[in-house]
Amino acid sequence: MTGGIPLEPSVDEMRAMAGAAVGYLVEHIGALGDAPAADLDGASETARRLRRPAPETGRPFGELLETFAEAVPKSLNTAGPGYFAFIPGGGLFSAALADFLATGVNRYVGMWFAAPALAQLEANVLRWMCDLFGYSAEARGILTSGGSMSNFSAIVTARAAMLPEDFLSGTIYVSDQTHHSVAKAAALAGFPPARVRVLPSTPELRMDPEALRRAVRADRAAGLRPFLVVASAGTTNTGAVDPIPEIAALAAEEGLWLHADAAYGGFFQLTARGRARLAGIERADSITLDPHKGLFLPYGTGALIVRDGASLKRAHHHHAEYLQDLVDEGEALNFAEYSPELSRDFRGLRVWLPLELHGTGAFRASLDEKLDLARLLHDELRRTPGFELPWEPDLSAVAFRYRPASGDPEGFNRRLLDRINASGRIYLSSTVLRGRFTIRACLVSHRTHRDRVEEAVEIIRRAALGE
Ligand SMILES: Cc1ncc(COP(=O)(O)O)c(C=O)c1O
Repeated sequence: MTGGIPLEPSVDEMRAMAGAAVGYLVEHIGALGDAPAADLDGASETARRLRRPAPETGRPFGELLETFAEAVPKSLNTAGPGYFAFIPGGGLFSAALADFLATGVNRYVGMWFAAPALAQLEANVLRWMCDLFGYSAEARGILTSGGSMSNFSAIVTARAAMLPEDFLSGTIYVSDQTHHSVAKAAALAGFPPARVRVLPSTPELRMDPEALRRAVRADRAAGLRPFLVVASAGTTNTGAVDPIPEIAALAAEEGLWLHADAAYGGFFQLTARGRARLAGIERADSITLDPHKGLFLPYGTGALIVRDGASLKRAHHHHAEYLQDLVDEGEALNFAEYSPELSRDFRGLRVWLPLELHGTGAFRASLDEKLDLARLLHDELRRTPGFELPWEPDLSAVAFRYRPASGDPEGFNRRLLDRINASGRIYLSSTVLRGRFTIRACLVSHRTHRDRVEEAVEIIRRAALGE
């Protein structure tokens, strides 16, 4: 070895490096509330400065930690309490510990026989998710890297269950508010773009069951094979929940697979209000969930649950001779047989440890708080002259715009968003709704509390008056 730390560090070296990493992280998390909600000033320069090839000889850990610590702040502070853009996550400290432990022991859990007890921990969280949505013992699920991959596996599962091998006449129904990952997944699964029917949403930005019925019937009459409808259980734009009971009834009548994209909204099922809003979701054939949204876990943690677990397996199971030593699943699951992935991280621990450590009640309380906070933000802005909030929040996303007395509303709202974000205390994003530029705030972080939302109201009001 020539300099640096050996591949297998000594006990003292391990302790020193881990201690330094934990020390950094604890301080970083402690300061998140005071850190800017975003700081991209000079970020590209920092990035350029860090561009270098891998060295032949290692450098001290402390130096590398410094490099990391220099890079982190030059970013959107996605884990901070003022980050309301897109769909925030959170980043539980307990999940970071779980990842450290999981990657440290580096056990393989894709096939249960390789680590039965660890596979059981992952199975526990999947069973918990199935129970949350009233799925019976036949249901199965997988942890994915996120909602996009969950939607992809859902489409492949529905395709395998509902269509012949030559599936190109299969048609998929979404609304104009459905997350783009569904159309992307359809394309990746081999469907031509024309096989994805984008239905105009209702004035409330929900899927229109009558439009769905008409489209399905017209396609069938034209010789196509309608097979899948995707209902949004919380759209990305406004958090609107599609009328799932009506869509489920129609899916049953027309013989369609119903997939619920609950990537954003799914875990509000833990709360009484969320459960009421998501009523009927238990009738879906499959559900996308994103623990890296509603369970405040780090990016890279998605889930898919499927009511008829056998169909998930049929779509993903493949045989290979070099895997013949692996044992068929029995008591426990072979996750790899239900998923596109064979080798992957033991992401189950990242869900299991926080659930067990904090208890589901802690998640329920935090999600309930987010529903209250979204209502607070909505009501406060609505009673402020000049603000338009055409959509009531179903969950925790609030869409708004300002109506300037004169001039171009889009230009005004773009500048308004810039001024809001320039506060450094909150960071929001925008979208286009019914052809109009609209600002949106989505409250899903466990670190966002009432004080920050009250501050946000003041920042947004001042920013609107500042022109
Ligand atoms: C409703 C919905 N579906 C799917 C996705 C995609 O999830 P991911 O970003 O985890 O791939 C998102 C992401 O925001 C979403 O809001």
